Amino acid sequence: MRTVRINRKLCYAALLACVVIALLWINLKKSRHLAPPVRHVNFASSTSSGSLRDNKEKSNSLERLTIQEKADKTVAAVLVIACNRPEVERCLDSLLHYRPSERKFPIIVSQDCGHKETGRVIANYGNNVMYLKHPDLSDITVPGGMDHLKGYYKLSRHYKWALSQVFDVLHLDTVIVVEDDLEVAPDFFEYFEATKELLEKDPSLWCVSAWNDNGKKGKVRGNDLLYRSDFFPGLGWMLKKSVWDGLAPKWPLAYWDDWMRHPEQRRGRACIRPEIPRVVTFGKIGVSRGQFFDEHLKYIELNDQFYPFTEGNLTFLVKEEYDPMFINTVYKSPLVSFEYFHSGQVIPAPSVRVQYESDETFKSLANQLGIMNDIKSGVPRMAYRGVVSFMYKRLRVYLAPPRSWRGYDFHE
Ligand SMILES: *[C@@H]1O[C@H](CO)[C@@H](O)[C@H](O)[C@H]1NC(C)=O
Repeated sequence: MRTVRINRKLCYAALLACVVIALLWINLKKSRHLAPPVRHVNFASSTSSGSLRDNKEKSNSLERLTIQEKADKTVAAVLVIACNRPEVERCLDSLLHYRPSERKFPIIVSQDCGHKETGRVIANYGNNVMYLKHPDLSDITVPGGMDHLKGYYKLSRHYKWALSQVFDVLHLDTVIVVEDDLEVAPDFFEYFEATKELLEKDPSLWCVSAWNDNGKKGKVRGNDLLYRSDFFPGLGWMLKKSVWDGLAPKWPLAYWDDWMRHPEQRRGRACIRPEIPRVVTFGKIGVSRGQFFDEHLKYIELNDQFYPFTEGNLTFLVKEEYDPMFINTVYKSPLVSFEYFHSGQVIPAPSVRVQYESDETFKSLANQLGIMNDIKSGVPRMAYRGVVSFMYKRLRVYLAPPRSWRGYDFHE
């Protein structure tokens, strides 16, 4: 009888222990799940003194935790630049709709301008976004009495403050900058998650952009296609702190995007960009987009079919792999003149090349072929090594300089 009673007691004790362990485990899981999105856990530095066995056990459990953290680690924070447009709602709704995980992509909205209605719209998102307000709303006197350009100065000041907040104050390592009039594609986050690694391993890259200036219907084909671009596209772009650290001390008073394109800032670095844009702008009330919207921006296509970039191998975009392959593809394409497209002639090749010799011939061919004709700091829009790739009459076309090209001709 006594042994039976002891056994029963033991059973109860064991059961109780099990329940306690289960409760502790559930609690631990819950607290991990509820952890704030921007968290800095440095497991590597948390070793402490103790016996050898202690350390070994600790390192095992640390390893497990690290693996778990990695599975849902922050990829990049999304920094939304807002001012006085309540339509930022459309931007935030599309970001929140497609965001795969709060932990991977925390969203930070930085608002300039002190616009009350826009502020209310942002505040309505509660804990779904982190809301920062630019404290410096002071007026700016534009040199030379050019007060109508004030917007460009305020925008530049806001960018500097907001980027400094995310990199220097919040100590984030990678940030995707999104303006308040942008709507994102279903695979916007997938694209940035897959390309982040390229920014880490290729120092000749300084950004990944979701934009293609020539991304109009009929001009693009294939939502899996990615390129390198010497032209800084902006518009939904990812950068790392190391790039910010180089730019911050000399950040300009105005026209920050054209300043980025200057050789002194770019220093030969390129961006990754998609064939079909992963953002579109939906408004024309922006600082600089008014005149540009009606004739151009409203025709830009937004990718609507999710492409699983993280499942593929994007190593081909690293400079050493990409350059020889790209140059070979471009220059083995048969050379044709613009008349070819209207001649009824068919050359059996997957792509053709049209050659330009100068800024002037680039512009006139770009106009004929229906792509952007402007050149900034010597670089045609979306060009890589002088070459712009697009579709014309269902043919892949490379508008390219002669094979002997040695670099961009920069002049103010
Ligand atoms: C990815 O592609 C590169 C070539 O671009 C190749 O060298 C590498 O082995 C590939 N990696 C995997 C995991 O397939």
